[in-house]
Order: sequence, then C-alpha cells, then structure tokens
Amino acid sequence: MTNSVEIKNLDLSFGAVKVLQNLNLDIGEGEFLVLLGSSGCGKSTLLNCIAGLLEVTDGQIFIKGKNVTWAEPSERGIGMVFQSYALYPQMSVKGNLSFGLKNAKVPKDEIEKRVARAAEILQIEPLLDRKPGALSGGQRQRVAIGRALVRDVDVFLFDEPLSNLDAKLRVDLRVELKRLHNQLQNTMIYVTHDQVEAMTLADRIAVMKGGKIMQLGSPDEIYNQPRNLYVADFIGSPSMNFLEGRLEAGEFKVDDMVMPMNGYEFGAPQTADRPAIIGIRPEHVVTGELVRNAPLQFEVDVDLVEPMGSDTLVYAKLGKHSFRIRMDGQARVRDGEKISIGIDPSRASLFDKSTEDRL
Ligand SMILES: Nc1ncnc2c1ncn2[C@@H]1O[C@H](COP(=O)(O)OP(=O)(O)OP(=O)(O)O)[C@@H](O)[C@H]1O
Ligand SMILES: [Mg+2]
Repeated sequence: MTNSVEIKNLDLSFGAVKVLQNLNLDIGEGEFLVLLGSSGCGKSTLLNCIAGLLEVTDGQIFIKGKNVTWAEPSERGIGMVFQSYALYPQMSVKGNLSFGLKNAKVPKDEIEKRVARAAEILQIEPLLDRKPGALSGGQRQRVAIGRALVRDVDVFLFDEPLSNLDAKLRVDLRVELKRLHNQLQNTMIYVTHDQVEAMTLADRIAVMKGGKIMQLGSPDEIYNQPRNLYVADFIGSPSMNFLEGRLEAGEFKVDDMVMPMNGYEFGAPQTADRPAIIGIRPEHVVTGELVRNAPLQFEVDVDLVEPMGSDTLVYAKLGKHSFRIRMDGQARVRDGEKISIGIDPSRASLFDKSTEDRL
C-alpha cells in the first residue's frame, strides 16, 4: 500500500508546553484512520499540523510523497471539516458550497458540476437554495462535509464532525460517512473521543495519550489485543475488569484463586514470573449453561443488577474484587444471589504490573 500521508518525527510545542513529541505515523492511500483519545491528548493539534493550520516545531509532513511541512493549507490537497460547521449564515447552501471554488477562480461550469455532484452524494439537493439557519444540525453538517467534497481533494480531515449532533443523528451520519468513504475511497483522517465511532469507522485506530500514540492498529487488534493497560482500559464500555496478582509459571494468581493461562498467546515466548494484571472484558464472561464448558470457573456474589434492554450489566464481587459481567438481556439475576461464571484465558489480556505493557 502506498502512503498518502507520512508524519515523521513531528514535534509541536506551544511555548514551553510540548504537545506532540517525536510522533511518527504513516497513513495509507484510501485508508480511514481515526485519531482517538481523551480530551487534551493532542488529536486536534495533530490534525491541524497536517492541515497546515499550525506551524510545526520540528519534523516533517508528506502528502502524496510531497514534503508539505511548510506549504500553505490551500496547497496541500486537503479538505477539512470541523466540529462547528462554520457556514456563512447569509449565503444559501449553494453559495456556501461554491464560495471557496469561486475564490480559487475555478470556472463557473466546473463549479456547477462539482456542487451538483456533492449535493447528490450527500442528498442535500432540495436544500441548495436554503440558508443555513433553515437547516437542521445534521443537514448543516452535511453541507460542511459538502464544502470539503467540492474541493476534490486527496485527503479529508475531520475534527469531531458529529459531536454537536444528537445521539440518533450521530449514528445516521456515521453510517453515511462510512458509505461516503466506501464510495469515494479517499484517505480520511478522523478525530474523535467516541470509541464507538472509532471502532465502526476506522480501518486503523491510533489511540493517543499525552501527545503520543499508545497503539496503532485495526479495531480488532485494539479491542482484542490492547498493547498496554491504558488502551485496554480506554476501549470497551463498560471497561475491562482488572485484577492485580502474580504471573507464576504460566499461571495467574490472585489471592487464593489460580488461573492457568492455557490458550493465552504470550507476546514473548517465555515470560518470567512477575507481578501482573489480568484484564477480562465484562462481555467475555459466560454464565448459565455455558459455564460448564469454560476453561476457568468461579463463583461471584451479585451486588447490583442493571437491566439495559438488549443486555444486563451485573456488578459482582469475585473474592474481594469488584467484577462486572455483561449478560444477555433475558438473563434473570437478582441482587445478593451467588452465580457461577466462566472465563476463557485465551480472551483475556495480561499486563506487566510495572511497565503496564501486554505480556
Ligand atoms: N494555542 C495553544 N496554546 C497553548 N496550549 C495549547 C494551545 N492549543 C492547544 N493547547 C494544549 O495542547 C493540548 C492538546 O490540545 P488539543 O486541542 O490537540 O487536544 P484534543 O485531543 O483535540 O482535545 P479535545 O478532545 O478536547 O478536542 C492541550 O493540553 C491544550 O491545552
Ligand atoms: Mg480537539
């Protein structure tokens, strides 16, 4: 796969504050890459560096093989969509879509053609003569995406484009964005702090923390093989259960419980004994009939039951440790009850206690 965007040893500081440090990232041609992380981790800063809206402190940025580190935003072949739609309120939708092209002295019939195509793709043709004030949030956001579309760029940059929308519209537009990417096959770099958006949209996710990439991988890798404790805790809702104990001769021991890690794929073939943390996703715990066939079986005390319709969240105690279990929505469990649970070590994650890296 050829690279569309390459970021090499990028540093960005605001005065004495180092926001990005020695960041490296290659994004493939046509890839949908999501930058995911909590507030303040540097997602927008990185995107703005790629867009040319911030001057980098050190390092280089290449787009389609060309060094654009010092190029103007308009020379980079990118289109950007922000969280705030920033539409011109006095102009019609059509005016908003064609404004940038007029400024760039694109011929009139070419403008007509591109606006018509973008309007068709985004299904906003009936809205072209309306002003932004007469549009819903979702329609406004589609116009904002349209403004990037008409520019006919190689790379789209999105900074939390859906976060101003209500929950249902977010889901609708998320699906439309995925469809748009399937259709256009452009490179897309998409910033969000919403892990569901990241998991559903991305070819690869870069999980960021404190200006660094903690893991870069497919949604499947990020979910099933988190490389460190931070990613493990960040991805998944409710998050993983973590138990602190020791890894001894391939068995994880916590208090008087012993969990032989048969089937667990260790990253390093011989992992020495050490203090360790096991991570078990609430949705990977089995109950009822399935416990019999599970490699590891325990009893837990149910503290609290939260029925959520499609599934039921159970807060329990495993020994003296809090432990969450996600059960089927049909499950009948009561507070104070004792239930059996089954765990499959091949689906768990083990981390070194001191480095917090995956074992
Ligand atoms: N102009 C600035 N001057 C100084 N510090 C800044 C400036 N812009 C951003 N920062 C700092 O850089 C860090 C990263 O900011 P950034 O906007 O990239 O975060 P983010 O990951 O996009 O967060 P959010 O999810 O809240 O949008 C933050 O700690 C922020 O306070
Ligand atoms: Mg931001």
